[in-house]
Amino acid sequence: MSQKVLVINGPNLNLLGKREPDVYGAESLASIEDKCQKRASVLDLEIEFRQSNTEGEMVDWIQQAEDNFDILIINAGAYTHTSVALLDAIKGTTTPVIEVHLSNIHQREEFRHHSFISKAAKGMICGFGGFGYEMALDAASNILKNG
Ligand code: DQA
Repeated sequence: MSQKVLVINGPNLNLLGKREPDVYGAESLASIEDKCQKRASVLDLEIEFRQSNTEGEMVDWIQQAEDNFDILIINAGAYTHTSVALLDAIKGTTTPVIEVHLSNIHQREEFRHHSFISKAAKGMICGFGGFGYEMALDAASNILKNG
């Protein structure tokens, strides 16, 4: 049976393609999801792709993941830089977490350099646009096979 990956996207990522295309590119979240579904089937992974603009809903999803998913991929959007609640939720779960960002957050404003998610994530991929999600799936497959 395929192992299951939950991909959580945070606030404003529903606007990808229209939102600051110079920073985030022209690709929509639906197109990124489509590519992830294809990569997942090559890797024999099952993925569920979600987006929320609400911090509490993301906390709920992280808490519930343990029962239904083997690994999490998270782009927490702006909550990356502000949310102790998301950090605590990740610390409180045994499900491994991979952090993703489309942009290279370290080349941007100072306030984006710090990530609460990184404190508890297995690793972080940033700066590769939508392709970063596919890289995260490869990393997820490797973690699930080799730890
Ligand atoms: C982002 C980077 C964050 O700083 C920003 O708030 C986002 C998107 C990224 O994918 O590059 O919403 O997480």
